[in-house]
Amino acid sequence: MSNVSSILHSGYHIPLTREWQSVRPLTKSALMYPIFISDKDDAKDVISSMPNQYRWGVNRLEELLDPLVKKGLRSVILFGVLEDSSKKDFRGSLADSPDGPVVRAIKLIRNRFPDLAVACDICLCEYTDHGHCGLLFKDGTINNTESVARIAEVSVNYALAGAQILAPSDCMDGRILAIKEGLIQNQLSHRVMLLSYAAKFASCFYGPFRDAADSAPAFGDRSCYQLPPASRGLARRAIQRDLREGADAIMVKPGTAFMDIIADAANLAPDVPIATYHVSGEFAMLHAAAKAGVFDLKRVVLEVMNGFMRAGCSIILTYFTPELLDWLSE
Ligand code: PBG
Ligand code: ZN
Repeated sequence: MSNVSSILHSGYHIPLTREWQSVRPLTKSALMYPIFISDKDDAKDVISSMPNQYRWGVNRLEELLDPLVKKGLRSVILFGVLEDSSKKDFRGSLADSPDGPVVRAIKLIRNRFPDLAVACDICLCEYTDHGHCGLLFKDGTINNTESVARIAEVSVNYALAGAQILAPSDCMDGRILAIKEGLIQNQLSHRVMLLSYAAKFASCFYGPFRDAADSAPAFGDRSCYQLPPASRGLARRAIQRDLREGADAIMVKPGTAFMDIIADAANLAPDVPIATYHVSGEFAMLHAAAKAGVFDLKRVVLEVMNGFMRAGCSIILTYFTPELLDWLSE
């Protein structure tokens, strides 16, 4: 007698039934598009290490966003870039200055695209002359207390400018609590989501970003604050800590090599949305491999993004967002 339980093909022999097998279908609303905002207002400057990505001046943002919003873009995350490095200083003053690129971009986007959610990456490395993500003691090590105070100050200023989601990527200890308290003190806590880059690893996949944002450290590296890539316990502890400190959502970064951590996050934090950042090096790598004929770009990107959804994500930060908006319309 045949064994009917051995038959699986019957459950996925046509496209529709294959779709029904998705643990969590990929949707446009899951996508958050990272945008580099230049201090040069009219810029559309090529980023050589990241195909089709540019450093955009504030005056060019409508040209970028209008077609994407029409295709269904729901959220962006902003990164400031100081092409004029003489504007950098030890405390990253330009990060939240009213004349800085990010504060002006927040206001413009909120005004012109009221239905587009505006998230901001919170970090100092794009604005400090030493290129580290926090403030330093004289010996070059991280002054965590001063760093967290400054990061909370930047956060409040982005929220005052209109940012609806704040995503601190600096990896300082205790910054989620400091930011939350800053928001509460300024009567902003009800209208700002805190998306913590809780499980952020010290990764070589950030290389193209540091080139794009001119944010590589002037000395040393980030391994004393970003997590060791081979660790798991630290990521689990950081996720649990940030939840206790008031995080509204948790991010794992990078994505592809850290799918186990995404699944851990979904288990440890089942009651908040989980995000992952498909970072610059992952993006560049897929482009390069597709160009070399290794695979078809659309198929590989959909496979990776669906992997993130299956692992437990609700939010994916990806430079492939423009292409995905087209592919998800087909
Ligand atoms: C800033 C920051 C980085 C990324 C996001 N925020 C760089 C870093 O930590 O060195 C990386 C994003 C990417 O590679 O696409 N701290
Ligand atoms: Zn940083």
